[in-house]
Amino acid sequence: MDIKAKAREILANMSLSEKLGQITQVSYTGQPVEEMREVIHKIQPGSLILCGSALGGVDQQNAVSREAINTLQKIALEETGNKIPILFGRDVIHGHRVAFPVPLTMTASWDFDYIEKSYDAIREEAINDGVKWTFTPMLDMYREHRWGRIVEGTGEDPYLGGEMAKAVVKGVQTADPAAPRAMLACAKHFVGYGASEGGRDYNHTEISDYAMQNYYLPAFRAAVDAGCATVMSSFNEINGIPTTGDKRVMTGYLRDQMGFEGFVVSDWEAIAQMHLFSGFAESPAEAARLSLAAGVDMDMMDNYFLDYVGELVTEGKLSVEELDTAVLRILETKLRYGLFANPYIDDQPYDLEKHMDMAQKMAEKSIVLLKNEKKLLPLKKGARIGIAGPMARCGSDLVGTWALDFDPALSRDAADALAEKFDLIPLGEADYRTLYRDNLEACVVMLGETRKVTGEATALVDIGIPADQLAVVERLKKLGKPVIGVFCFARPISFGEYDRLFDAILYAGHGGTRAAEAIAAILAGDAQPEGRLPFTLPYHQGQLPLYYNALPGSRKINGYYGDMVPALSNYCDATGTPNYPFGYGLSYTEFEISEITAETEVSAADLEAGKTFDLAVQVKNVGDGAGVAVPQLYVRDLFGSRIRPLRSLRGHKKLALEAGEEKTVTFTLGKADLGYYLEDGSFILEAGEFDIFIGENCLTENRIRVTVK
Ligand code: NOJ
Repeated sequence: MDIKAKAREILANMSLSEKLGQITQVSYTGQPVEEMREVIHKIQPGSLILCGSALGGVDQQNAVSREAINTLQKIALEETGNKIPILFGRDVIHGHRVAFPVPLTMTASWDFDYIEKSYDAIREEAINDGVKWTFTPMLDMYREHRWGRIVEGTGEDPYLGGEMAKAVVKGVQTADPAAPRAMLACAKHFVGYGASEGGRDYNHTEISDYAMQNYYLPAFRAAVDAGCATVMSSFNEINGIPTTGDKRVMTGYLRDQMGFEGFVVSDWEAIAQMHLFSGFAESPAEAARLSLAAGVDMDMMDNYFLDYVGELVTEGKLSVEELDTAVLRILETKLRYGLFANPYIDDQPYDLEKHMDMAQKMAEKSIVLLKNEKKLLPLKKGARIGIAGPMARCGSDLVGTWALDFDPALSRDAADALAEKFDLIPLGEADYRTLYRDNLEACVVMLGETRKVTGEATALVDIGIPADQLAVVERLKKLGKPVIGVFCFARPISFGEYDRLFDAILYAGHGGTRAAEAIAAILAGDAQPEGRLPFTLPYHQGQLPLYYNALPGSRKINGYYGDMVPALSNYCDATGTPNYPFGYGLSYTEFEISEITAETEVSAADLEAGKTFDLAVQVKNVGDGAGVAVPQLYVRDLFGSRIRPLRSLRGHKKLALEAGEEKTVTFTLGKADLGYYLEDGSFILEAGEFDIFIGENCLTENRIRVTVK
């Protein structure tokens, strides 16, 4: 029997209260079985969230247990009337026992094959503890560097967001999503959450239909196309309407435009907030009605569906069909992903050591080398190096936010990992004057932020280097030795005017369980830096918002790409250009990218018919060591019926090259890469001229003009 028919058959035997339970998610944080037995008997919930607070990312939560989960599942299947398996969900965001780098840091690797493998390893650990559903990937594009949740996302580019979406969904859900050990992914937060005004969490957003279609929705489209099982609604409102109660968003964008067929869960108390805080729903019942009618299928932790949808249906304010649609979507998902066939999880031990090695490799790939004057890095093994800065001894802080189950015993202080490679001299406050400074070859200063000040509800007014940390760097500078900054910030920061204090800079982010070892490996040259910025590092905070995929201004050029007449199009008191642009990252070697070869005329009709065309460059390693090049392809549509961004990333490659080695790299473009969305969600390709750039970051001027006729 097909899944839809089977779901209908189950639905036909469900009472009203069983249906209300199915669209409800309640929390389980290790309460005694008897207590949970009562809850399960009474509510028959569709899902249990293994977490006790909306801000789960801040603290480690009670460890989950496969045995307990199996026990609760058994109660649902054997003791309740409807015998529908419970879906157990938890925020397994970037690791389980072993933490991989936080999503933003991982994205900096631009290595989506390895990210997929990493999520497969994460899945292996989480499913073995009984977690069947994870609330990842987070695909919120942002325009506000001050927003704290940038750490959970993929940076400022929808193409990278889409690549990340595919990698996470494939890794988590596996090639056979119905398999007993596959998990379900959840693309969140739908939609526009990252546009919160001033970066203040949960705040107002103002999003045009044009920006929505081309900037905020594309990564979600990629997730849906990759088969993502579920979607989470967002906390924010857009242009005055909360997404969680907006049919245009939840049904219009998600189902009518994107063809999503799974179910939607609200974010934690997002339904209640429409009544309690935003002044959108006059009563709790009205909030429940608005969300269910909008297309939200499961209520995370408000109990509004449970408490009010019954009376709404009885009073005719919601139709039985509306309720049944939500129940059916949940049942179909449980059937499609094998939950009825395999409700219990057995023990299949995994190779923890292997996962630790993978986490280290992922972290190494994610480190971005921003500056390397006089080829200071890599440092010679055994060299006498001073070490300072708060992140040198920060315990498991580099593990990052939203690591609910990580094992702190698996991670080390960076200083300990560095001490294995170098003759490390700790530079404490008192040491500066007495140090045998002449014997020091360089100083490594580890700057950054702790895991608890990143993630949800951690917006900052100042995203510069904290003053006390700057003071450390300034003191170090006085030793007269080269200063290497290792930046362990889990967000893009602004430090343009202090850049001069550093001779070399590694942007390491929050690298997970093996962050320390990865940083040591890069500093010592045991691994090559191959990360590239997935965001812009502004020169000055007053430039914000600053992003590479900007629309041209109406006079002269947008400041990001250079100031032709600065005061006219930008600021009178500072440059408009970033400190480091999107896509930027150095290697220990150097690469040359040749001019682009391509046909300079392509037919619009051919592109419409699905044909593609190729562009090629030669990439050569012109340095004296091996390295990984990351050629990037950007498109600019020169004239259109809508103004198009100055650059849009449409492709990238990663290739390892030995010294002197050269390879041809071919990119293939089609309609999807040259066209764009109109406000109503239709996709168009307009004939005309396009500049296509292939280079090492978004500022490249290596371009070819292609005419679409
Ligand atoms: C609230 C967060 O916004 C969301 O990302 C998370 O998945 C849920 N809480 C569940 O913990």
